[in-house]
Amino acid sequence: MQIRILFVGDIVGKPGRNTFKSLIDDLKREYEPDVVIANAENAADGFGITKKIYDDLSKYADVLTMGNHVWDKEEIFSWIDDVDKIIRPVNLPVGSAGCGFKILTVKGMDVMVINAIGRVFMNPVDSPFSVLDELIDRYSNVSIKFIDFHAEATSEKQAIGWFLDGKVSAIVGTHTHVQTADERILPKGTAYISDAGMTGCHDGILGFKYEEALERFIKAIPKRLKVCKTNLKLDGVIIDIDDSGKALKIQRISKPFKADK
Ligand code: FE2
Repeated sequence: MQIRILFVGDIVGKPGRNTFKSLIDDLKREYEPDVVIANAENAADGFGITKKIYDDLSKYADVLTMGNHVWDKEEIFSWIDDVDKIIRPVNLPVGSAGCGFKILTVKGMDVMVINAIGRVFMNPVDSPFSVLDELIDRYSNVSIKFIDFHAEATSEKQAIGWFLDGKVSAIVGTHTHVQTADERILPKGTAYISDAGMTGCHDGILGFKYEEALERFIKAIPKRLKVCKTNLKLDGVIIDIDDSGKALKIQRISKPFKADK
């Protein structure tokens, strides 16, 4: 017995949401995943998520993961504890709203989906190493564990990979919005990729128009970033895991979407 997970890289703004919603049925037909997980921390105009967008995206995914932008839309505090398909980084301060993991039942097996966030070049949070170590220990009865590790530094992502090799089924990096070509199965059976990539416009800088970003870089003017809309693609990975929790396969995907098709 094995399960297949489709993970969709960071969905950025409306172009990203449209790309995801337009391609997901074809992807489900092509890959026949048992579980669909998508990172949605940039779904609302690039910054956070609203209830309306949660209701929309959660029709197509089993779990939505978040990251450093989880609290950008303040309204989230009024609903995150009342819904069951969104998780926020597990290593935020104790007592934070929401939950950092979710256990699904898939083909009669428990599948634990965890969201965690890095600390290198990011805001201070609890150690992802100690929080994940404790959590994984506490749920040792769950064989299949998937982690979306939302982090800036590739070194920290690789460190989590080696730290948890053999203890979890898959570690998929998010946040940098650029898909990396380092997917592999680590020696003790954990599927790993430093970054799954991004779903949305690939003609800008991380899904945003480059003009405002250039103002920031060249003149240090803090222009508000605007989502760009062209060269749409859905980036992600397909991961196969056996019932003991060992990963069998990890495959990158990057699907273009022609909005006028
Ligand atoms: Fe992020």
